[in-house]
Amino acid sequence: MKRYYWLCFLFLFAFWGLQCHPQHELFAYYSATKATASTTIDSTKAQLGRYLFYDTRLSANNTKSCATCHAPELAFSDGYRRSTGIYGDNTQHNAPSLLNLNTYTAMNWATPHLQTIAQQVVRPLLDTIPLEMGAHGNEQRIYARLTTDSVYATLFPKAYPNTTQAIHFDHIVESISQFVATLQSRNSLIDQYNLSPNHLLPPEVAAGKALFEGKAGCATCHSGKDFNTPEQGSRYANLGLYNCNDGYPKEDYGIAERTQKMEDNGKYRIPSLRNVAITAPYFHDGSAATLKEVLQIYENGGRKVESGTCIGDGRNNPNRDKRLPVVKFSVEEKQQLLAFLYALTDTSYLRNKAFMNPFLW
Ligand code: HEC
Ligand code: HEC
Repeated sequence: MKRYYWLCFLFLFAFWGLQCHPQHELFAYYSATKATASTTIDSTKAQLGRYLFYDTRLSANNTKSCATCHAPELAFSDGYRRSTGIYGDNTQHNAPSLLNLNTYTAMNWATPHLQTIAQQVVRPLLDTIPLEMGAHGNEQRIYARLTTDSVYATLFPKAYPNTTQAIHFDHIVESISQFVATLQSRNSLIDQYNLSPNHLLPPEVAAGKALFEGKAGCATCHSGKDFNTPEQGSRYANLGLYNCNDGYPKEDYGIAERTQKMEDNGKYRIPSLRNVAITAPYFHDGSAATLKEVLQIYENGGRKVESGTCIGDGRNNPNRDKRLPVVKFSVEEKQQLLAFLYALTDTSYLRNKAFMNPFLW
């Protein structure tokens, strides 16, 4: 009998692990893991996904759709530091843009293990911590709502023929993911210039570009077609934004929440800089209000926090990334860098009806 004691411990730990695991991983059985939305797009599914993306009926109390937190006019972000779920819960992070995710290899600010769009899309729908749309436990009610709509009576069977239950969360997650993967728009002034270098850039933008790629050291991390790929090293970095108890706030400390490694404390994904002019506020927690403030932080080599719950000098954070430049900007240079960042704006997608709310257009 005695030698089986260890089994009890094993069960205890297994159970404890389940309890402590973020809820969303319990939903891994939804086909989210199967769908590889980032590569191939099925237009029938994407068309259905477009309706679902803008449909508040997918949330438990009919109040929020994906577009509530990912609004097209803000490059599919929401303008808040953190977003709020249907019952007022705050999300852990700032809502990012959903444009051009098709080439991404990891979702979100700090979840390197979520590698496909579908793996993320399941979370706001069915997660309970934080509760975003609250569909979990309300699946049947939601199916009933969708069944009564004549649009869905056509679109679901068209996208999912030969299935006994076309209206199902497996299909909802997959079709929304397909729609999200279609949201591509790379038509900024800088793209136009890159496509045809004869295209003249305004002098201020050209000077900003030279600074970005040169002295300011930004391209070391913000490189590649979406300005989110480092020239070398990790795709995650600590900018020295906080330093309390040798780290970031205990409720939000980067990929270390997953890896449990000290050296990962405060590391977040290097974000794309496309459309930054319209996706304020900035950083993983929306803690910088303007691009000017962001530049000031780079120039200072981090941020000194003097009030709140995480007082300390981020510049001394032991994990501050070695790739960060030591650099001072003149007023003119700051203007030039800003002009370059503004030139990464592309709102041409707003004229693309296929991206917009189908209930209105
Ligand atoms: C309550 C606000 C809210 C709602 C509703 C919401 N999201 Fe999000 N979304 C966020 C936040 C916040 C993040 C960032 C999460 C993180 O990094 O921890 C995010 C991240 C994402 C990402 C990853 C983007 C990236 O850059 O990696 C995708 C894709 C996404 N959401 C799609 C959706 C879809 C599709 C829906 C509807 C089913 C949806 N979201 C509903 C707030 C929301
Ligand atoms: C060591 C890599 C690295 C370098 C070098 C770097 N960045 Fe960043 N950048 C990041 C990371 C990581 C974040 C997100 C940090 C966070 O949220 O905690 C970020 C965030 C930003 C943001 C906010 C984006 C958003 O959507 O919130 C802007 C703007 C930005 N960087 C511009 C620049 C500019 C301009 C330079 C050059 C002066 C630069 N970066 C240099 C890694 C880097």
